[in-house]
Amino acid sequence: MSAKISAAITAVGGYVPEYRLTNSDLEKMVDTNDEWIRTRTGVEERRILKGTQLGTSDLIVPAVQNLLDKKKMSAEEIDCLIVGTVTPDMFFPSTANLACHKLGAKNAWGFDLAAACSGFLYALTTGAALIESGRCKKVVVAGGDKMSSIVDYSDRATCIIFGDGAGAVLLEPSTDGNGVLDSILRSDGAGSQHLHMKAGGSLKPASIDTVTNKEHYIYQEGQAVFKYAVKGMADVSYELMQRNNLTGDDVAWLVPHQANKRIIDATADRMGLSHDKVMLNIQRYGNTTAGTIPLCLWEWEDKLKKGDNVVLAAFGGGFTWGATLIKWAY
Ligand code: UT7
Repeated sequence: MSAKISAAITAVGGYVPEYRLTNSDLEKMVDTNDEWIRTRTGVEERRILKGTQLGTSDLIVPAVQNLLDKKKMSAEEIDCLIVGTVTPDMFFPSTANLACHKLGAKNAWGFDLAAACSGFLYALTTGAALIESGRCKKVVVAGGDKMSSIVDYSDRATCIIFGDGAGAVLLEPSTDGNGVLDSILRSDGAGSQHLHMKAGGSLKPASIDTVTNKEHYIYQEGQAVFKYAVKGMADVSYELMQRNNLTGDDVAWLVPHQANKRIIDATADRMGLSHDKVMLNIQRYGNTTAGTIPLCLWEWEDKLKKGDNVVLAAFGGGFTWGATLIKWAY
């Protein structure tokens, strides 16, 4: 009998734009202060993609190119590119389609996957299934968002959290027991009332009124989302550990979505994990939505060791949430 094929992460890439928007910059834009932002969220600065005619594909492409350069691999070897994002360059064609063109990934097909802050986990599980089935040999799973394109910089409740950035991983078949081992993904559309963008979709197409009423920005009821996020992310991470017979001691790293440091701390505590095992870069990048988890892997890559049990966890708009268990492959 042939060995079971799993999808191993064999390379990681990332990209954040140069421009830094600091808490003190925001103090000049809205009624807020550095102390409040740090203690309530953990964010100190975030990156912004400045310039005209630049979209999320301009974050995804350098992230994937970084991965290809490190792996010494040609873009033509990519079979499929999946992009988790809620800020696509356009409704259509997909950001994955545009990114493949810019990268020269001539042999790839691809698509976008919209699951907000859980976008990378949904995309990773989907990409892993393409590898496990034998349908693809090299799948690039990317997550990234140009959140600055949908943030209202006069709304102090949202503009302090979000930033721009993207990360990507390469998935390849493995038979040595490493790779994506398990995933629990959930969604509940009832949560949409607390976090959404009111206009610009088919339900309410763009009009002069929707622009005047600022309906093309993120609408978030912070407290309600916080309440669900703390429980959702912690519960699903704990459930994943239980069903894989893991204790806090067995987990080398938690890679949490970076929405709020308090949500991350609660998840680590529920998992029985010491906080030095938690990847945290919210202070530097804020919440880059689908970009947070791969950006953490990108920054922590040299600390990860073959065989490490790594739990990725997210909660976000939809609501969508989930946790994925990976045995690190290199
Ligand atoms: O990644 C997608 C999923 N999103 C999340 O996971 C976000 C979850 N929610 C959160 O992280 C938090 O709810 C926020 C960071 C958005 C807000 O923090 P909070 O501790 O829930 O604040 P709050 O909305 O309860 O507001 C507390 C107080 C209010 O003042 P009063 O009514 O007590 O006088 C707000 O008006 O803080 C005030 N406030 C601010 N003060 C200074 C709200 N935003 C700010 C601000 N600066 N930027």
